[in-house]
Amino acid sequence: MSPIMVQKAEDHVALAAGAKNVPFTYTDPLSEVPTLSVVETSADGSTPIIDMEALLGPQRSEIIQQIGLACEKNGFFAVKNHGIPEMKINNMLDTAKQFFHLPVEERLKFRSADPNSVIRLVTGFEDKTRNIFVSRQSLKFHCHPVEDYQNHWPSNPPSFREKVGEYCASVRKVEVAILEAISESLGLERDYIDKTLKGHYVSINYYPACPESELDATFGVRTHTDPTLITILMQDDVPGLQVINDDKWIDVNPIPNAVVVHVGDMLQALSNCRYKSLLHQAIVNCEKERVSIASYCYPSDDAMIGPAKKLTDNDHPAIYKDFTYREFHESMWRVKCSTAKRLDLFKVESE
Ligand code: OGA
Ligand code: NI
Repeated sequence: MSPIMVQKAEDHVALAAGAKNVPFTYTDPLSEVPTLSVVETSADGSTPIIDMEALLGPQRSEIIQQIGLACEKNGFFAVKNHGIPEMKINNMLDTAKQFFHLPVEERLKFRSADPNSVIRLVTGFEDKTRNIFVSRQSLKFHCHPVEDYQNHWPSNPPSFREKVGEYCASVRKVEVAILEAISESLGLERDYIDKTLKGHYVSINYYPACPESELDATFGVRTHTDPTLITILMQDDVPGLQVINDDKWIDVNPIPNAVVVHVGDMLQALSNCRYKSLLHQAIVNCEKERVSIASYCYPSDDAMIGPAKKLTDNDHPAIYKDFTYREFHESMWRVKCSTAKRLDLFKVESE
């Protein structure tokens, strides 16, 4: 197992971890989880499954309806037949593991305290105020278009740039297709959301098996929403992702060859709260390391992210002001508040 890195949130210093192992797990009876009737779901009934191939065929309008329903009721869904070749997925996951198995010094070359840097490594950290250890290590980088950023990526393992580049280019196509469908599901023009889109940013997340800490609890990553339009998450075969649906935590277990798509803060604003940003977290696994690849689809700095005019009227007044993504992004780093409250700063009544 690779050494666990601990980072103090305030100064980003990597330290060696303590010894006691206190994994945090949360179990909720799945029987209490509501299911959707018209949408195919995972075996445990909790995850709506969207067939992307059918989206491109004569059933398109039905699939768009399913996507709209899943965004509104669940805030997430799995996508099968997405067109990313299995080999590219496996190569991406293998490369991710190889990177996180490199010696610490090699990985730490990418550490940066600047949230705007084109690539940065974020280590696990101790949150002493809450007495918890957050064990996720992640390598975060821009990747669209791939050619503009590839030279900043690790050259060790040697296959990194090629394999990660291939995955990023493929996932981009899924992003565009899903955003078009989401636009249509809201009754907007097909390219309404796509027009606001700029890049995508990838976070390779690595969760060491059984991270050790002397603190009260250990999380993979704490409960949060993503500051994105949508996030596309690809998990390896180790469970860990949990989401809140109807005020309950549910496990979103990996479905082979499917990716998970979930609603982010920007889609919540743009849809005038019809689609709500999903609260989610990752728990740690005591037996196995876990890797997930999060693709964050985010708007360009100048894109206006107010509620779409077509979605507001006297009966549905705009909940948020018009704001640019730049304004949101700046406030995100300036104002310390829980991620679920970030959008409140842009509410109409706070003017
Ligand atoms: C994220 C995230 C969850 C996971 O990267 O934003 O929420 O299961 N990841 O890794
Ligand atoms: Ni997230």
